[in-house]
Amino acid sequence: MPKNLIQQTLVLLKPDAIQRGIIGPIISRFEQAGLKIVGMKMVWVDKAFSKKHYSAHVDKKFYPGLENFITSGPVISMVVEGIQSVKAVRKIVGSTEPHQASPGTIRGDFAHHSYEYTDKKGIAIKNLIHASGNIKEAKKEIELWFKAKEIHTYKTVHETHVY
Ligand code: CMP
Repeated sequence: MPKNLIQQTLVLLKPDAIQRGIIGPIISRFEQAGLKIVGMKMVWVDKAFSKKHYSAHVDKKFYPGLENFITSGPVISMVVEGIQSVKAVRKIVGSTEPHQASPGTIRGDFAHHSYEYTDKKGIAIKNLIHASGNIKEAKKEIELWFKAKEIHTYKTVHETHVY
């Protein structure tokens, strides 16, 4: 198995996904693609933690709304493993703005918020999910959200039938 192509990436199901009761169908999208969940927990983050997770965005105009949103209820954080999983997961999740996200993606199928609307209302875009943008970001975010002992090693049937 070309081990260097097996990656781990961080996925967050945001408060809107949990409060809308759609975490099951969202998680299914990753399972259906044969991706493997190797870490998972429910966490209610505070503002200090939000600033760490969104450190690249803290100075942006939209950050206060984003912080209010991400700290408004519990999130589910997951480590998702698979073949080039960083890009694979981003493809399944779709564009950041649900209004632009293609049908067939999580954001395109389960949401439709636009920046034009949320900017006018002064609220965060409700886009259900966060997924690491690249391999470096994935490593940093997994270390922020998970202790090493919370990430598990086990075999799925896909390791027999896909890998
Ligand atoms: P997420 O995938 O969690 O990563 C960064 C977040 O910043 C993104 O989803 C959005 O919630 C938010 N974001 C990024 N760009 C914008 C924007 N132009 N306007 C409002 N929110 C944004």
